[in-house]
Amino acid sequence: PRKIIIDTDPGQDDAVAILLALASPEDIDLLGITAVAGNVPLELTAKNVRIVCELAGKPETKVFAGCDKPMHRKLVTAEHVHGKTGLDGPPMDDPTMPVQEQHGVDFIIETLRNEPAGTVTLCPIGPLTNIATAFERAPDIISRVQEIVLMGGAYFEVGNITPTAEFNIYVDPEAAKIVFDAGAPLTVMPLDVTHKALTTKTRIDAFRAMKTKVGDHVAAWTDFFERFDMEKYGSEGAPLHDPCTIAYLIAPQLFQGRQINVEIETGSDLTLGMTVADWWRITDRPKNAMFMKDIDAAGFYALLADRLARL
Ligand code: BDR
Ligand code: CA
Repeated sequence: PRKIIIDTDPGQDDAVAILLALASPEDIDLLGITAVAGNVPLELTAKNVRIVCELAGKPETKVFAGCDKPMHRKLVTAEHVHGKTGLDGPPMDDPTMPVQEQHGVDFIIETLRNEPAGTVTLCPIGPLTNIATAFERAPDIISRVQEIVLMGGAYFEVGNITPTAEFNIYVDPEAAKIVFDAGAPLTVMPLDVTHKALTTKTRIDAFRAMKTKVGDHVAAWTDFFERFDMEKYGSEGAPLHDPCTIAYLIAPQLFQGRQINVEIETGSDLTLGMTVADWWRITDRPKNAMFMKDIDAAGFYALLADRLARL
């Protein structure tokens, strides 16, 4: 199994990503989960991670709190999408499992230094503050990263928080720039992929049909999420963004993309946080990212249903 750290700001779709990882021990060795401020403030994301681990019956999972605000900006949140708690939908109890004392950034640095080089994958599914802070503070860890597989950015689908920016990149564009420029192997799941991974009614019903606590929660979360996107896009189903990263680690054949150059806009107010993706390879700027574009959505939902039913 691949050793990974999930860096996250739950978020209903983050929750499903965490559950998919916890349900897949033959593929994924989850070393720890670091929470970051994003969809909701850090206090809530750190709490939500633990709610999800307890729901999965894995209270022994190591959970760390990381940065409570972007590197150089004020935090922008997304309660309009995820609700006040970040995990609105089903009723939930407060978690009882602990948050580790160590800061999430220190955990990332320490883990990359202690594990053999090239054996730890980072899966950021929120703003990139924790990862970039770790890289800035300990540049020696960058060459030890096996791969970064993140959800963020967009090219053909352009933006979801501004006309030209995707939320995770927009919230901390300076951090995103550090991560995209770092030189570590990078795989990106942009809106171009996730807007094809839609939660249709049949797919949500499959979660409910599991007749488990996890199945009921995932159905309620995706129902809640869907409400927003139905209103917004008028499409059937909402994108289930973040689990695409974990699905890629389990079943890379579900995804297709291109190795290209991607730059992050940090200067312009108008296009702040835009992922300027050289999809057509117009420039000779160095290729720094495997930028995904297509997903086998049926295969992705089949994987989710199969794995989540185990919990
Ligand atoms: C990303 O933003 C968050 O709202 C989701 O959890 C996902 O990580 C999608 O733009
Ligand atoms: Ca997220």
